[in-house]
Amino acid sequence: MMTGKCTVFPIAVALSLVLSRPRFVSAIPESVLRARHVQTPEKLRQSYDYIIVGAGTAGLTIADRLTESPKYTVLVIEHGEFWSPSDPTGDGQRAHLYNLTSVPQIGLDNRTIPLGMGFGVGGSSAVNGMAVMRGTVQDYNIWAVLGNKGSAWTWEGLLPYFRKAIRFVPPDPVLAADFNITYDTQAAWGQYNDTHVYASFPGGLNPVIKTIYNGLRKTPGIPFPVDGHAGSHGVFYYPLSVNPKTRQRSYSRTGHWDSLNRSNYDILTSARATKVLLNKINAATGVEFILTGAVERHTVKANKEVVVSTGTIHTPQLLQLSGIGPHELLKQAKIPLKVNLPGVGANFQDHPIGASIRFNFTKTPPRPTSNSTHLPPSEGQGQGLVADLSLPIAAPLTFSAIASSLAGQNPASFAAPGTDRSVLRGYKAQNDLLAHQMLSSTPGSLSFLHWVIGYGTAPGANPINFHITSRGTITIDPANPDAPDPIVDYRALTNPVDTGLMIAYIEFYRRFFGPEGALAQYRAVETAPGAHVTSRKDLARYIRANYIPQAWHPVGTAAKMRREWGGVVDDELRVYGTKRLRVADASIIPILPGGTTQLTVYMIGEKVSLLSL
Ligand SMILES: Cc1cc2nc3c(=O)[nH]c(=O)nc-3n(C[C@H](O)[C@H](O)[C@H](O)COP(=O)(O)OP(=O)(O)OC[C@H]3O[C@@H](n4cnc5c(N)ncnc54)[C@H](O)[C@@H]3O)c2cc1C
Ligand SMILES: *[C@@H]1O[C@H](CO)[C@@H](O)[C@H](O)[C@H]1NC(C)=O
Ligand SMILES: *[C@@H]1O[C@H](CO)[C@@H](O)[C@H](O)[C@H]1NC(C)=O
Ligand SMILES: *[C@@H]1O[C@H](CO)[C@@H](O)[C@H](O)[C@H]1NC(C)=O
Ligand SMILES: *[C@@H]1O[C@H](CO)[C@@H](O)[C@H](O)[C@H]1NC(C)=O
Ligand SMILES: *[C@@H]1O[C@H](CO)[C@@H](O)[C@H](O)[C@H]1NC(C)=O
Ligand SMILES: *[C@@H]1O[C@H](CO)[C@@H](O)[C@H](O)[C@H]1NC(C)=O
Ligand SMILES: *[C@@H]1O[C@H](CO)[C@@H](O)[C@H](O)[C@H]1NC(C)=O
Repeated sequence: MMTGKCTVFPIAVALSLVLSRPRFVSAIPESVLRARHVQTPEKLRQSYDYIIVGAGTAGLTIADRLTESPKYTVLVIEHGEFWSPSDPTGDGQRAHLYNLTSVPQIGLDNRTIPLGMGFGVGGSSAVNGMAVMRGTVQDYNIWAVLGNKGSAWTWEGLLPYFRKAIRFVPPDPVLAADFNITYDTQAAWGQYNDTHVYASFPGGLNPVIKTIYNGLRKTPGIPFPVDGHAGSHGVFYYPLSVNPKTRQRSYSRTGHWDSLNRSNYDILTSARATKVLLNKINAATGVEFILTGAVERHTVKANKEVVVSTGTIHTPQLLQLSGIGPHELLKQAKIPLKVNLPGVGANFQDHPIGASIRFNFTKTPPRPTSNSTHLPPSEGQGQGLVADLSLPIAAPLTFSAIASSLAGQNPASFAAPGTDRSVLRGYKAQNDLLAHQMLSSTPGSLSFLHWVIGYGTAPGANPINFHITSRGTITIDPANPDAPDPIVDYRALTNPVDTGLMIAYIEFYRRFFGPEGALAQYRAVETAPGAHVTSRKDLARYIRANYIPQAWHPVGTAAKMRREWGGVVDDELRVYGTKRLRVADASIIPILPGGTTQLTVYMIGEKVSLLSL
């Protein structure tokens, strides 16, 4: 639980999204039941039916489902190693992240932005903040509009896979009554007994949440859905990916690898895939890889399919190295072109955090009492309540002006130089969908402002913009294509609409905490950016200097969209222009959902497993 004792760094307040400190002390028992961990290439089979690249969130989900039937042999190739996120030091986690840094961001006074992606068995699910959320009904219906005709990637179409992806465990009744946690198992969740990734509630929450909760209750227009996971925006509690029995992190390794005893399932670790092998008709025949510390390249054959699940940063890199990508980039890098797919590495998006706004209360609210303190301590830094608000609620004065400025844009004015026309058409299609949704405040419409509630010592917020309009790129370095990591460019705030949205959010908090707001009695004094910072110019400067363009939710770089809109995969997640090759991970998400991303990625893994068989 976050208590008054903690020194709270503003960003840390922000979020569950923040890198969680592993706090589960006992180690995951080494299971005796296990598929085969192959440590040298000589021990691999001659060939496998399926090869999955990346033992991350999606990769392990798919491998588990495919090996349920003994009919197929499956190999997973993973760059990192086995490890248990029970290392009590916290620093242990650093070794299980990719050390990535963006190029200087022109929209952020040339700041560079570090980001960490999971590295090792379990991928990002082993290191993430464990918040379990999903977007609204419209978030997923939009995916179908961006997809091919008749796409089944709608809210209704995806709900069965969301249900299958995670096993929901209701909160303790004392805690639920104490904080008014409501949930709707029927409408939102599944309780499949073959699913071992869990979503459960912590034992306790920070009582100061109640002060804000009651303030939001008094604010007109804000919806309080019984369970936001049933597709509505509004104010609601979310669970964490924690096993309720062991109180340990529940992630793709514990849910989809530990205790599997399957002779048709091999995993090779410390092996970095460097290329998907394609034959003359661009059918995937296998994978090339390098072992850590070595230079020699090995190959392994796939009889049926290769599935790329290396995550949003490394999936476009691997495709580009395989000759699938923008032809101009591949030409510069001297990589023989297999398929000209300009969308590979384009459409890069993440949820930006902040710039933050902070207040001091002149009159301190009484600390609310709590009846659930006897419950086991909480994990996930004690947050649990979010306000996900549609734009008419978050920005009642400016939402329609923001929507029309977005709808009137020519995306070529803001996209990276040289962006292909197909990709620009996709950006235009996304802008039109977003602009339309900006005007809607029906319960399932998009949520724009995301506020994680649970301040420690300083009230305020790091507003998160759930639907950014700037689009970045992930590309191999043409001068050094074999570099281990690609070039990350958020192109943060290159679209001025994103600055306008952030200004609107700051103004929302000023109203909420201010003399006309629900917490007026506590007489808040704004400490950052400060009440004197009011002009658009000054606010924009503050935002440029403090905005963080990532919340560890990168998506979009191998988008499931129409090919003529810059899409990379079709509705069966097959890479356009190839055979026997799919991508299944966060990179296929065409446009960010309003929620943290892990549950959506598990859902993608569940869905593609059924498509593959
Ligand atoms: C620090 C952090 C905090 C987060 N917090 C939350 C949160 O609180 N809630 C939430 O819902 N989401 C959160 N997320 C996001 C969520 O975890 C990710 O969206 C999701 O796990 C991504 O899954 P994936 O399958 O796309 O990729 P990953 O799970 O990252 O898997 C990719 C795998 O591929 C491997 N790999 C990469 N390149 C190669 C290669 N060339 N060859 C072989 N293997 C390779 C990697 O080692 C990794 O195992 C967070 C993410 C991070 C990093
Ligand atoms: C990131 O850096 C840490 C130490 O600073 C290291 O242990 C880890 O292996 C690095 N990650 C990768 C993927 O190289
Ligand atoms: C950012 O870098 C570019 C290119 O190096 C330079 O032209 C520009 O002046 C820099 N901007 C700031 C605010 O430093
Ligand atoms: C705590 O429990 C008591 C007795 O059941 C009840 O009267 C009270 O309202 C509860 N308080 C809170 C904050 O839930
Ligand atoms: C799991 O669910 C299936 C289908 O509902 C049922 O047939 C089976 O008995 C269940 N197994 C256990 C262990 O509960
Ligand atoms: C608890 O939440 C439900 C559902 O939103 C609402 O109807 C009820 O009024 C809330 N109770 C309190 C005490 O806030
Ligand atoms: C694992 O499966 C094999 C083959 O089905 C079986 O012989 C063996 O006993 C199993 N191991 C354990 C520990 O259950
Ligand atoms: C806010 O409160 C902190 C801690 O009490 C204090 O140090 C700071 O000066 C206050 N800031 C303002 C602007 O009142």
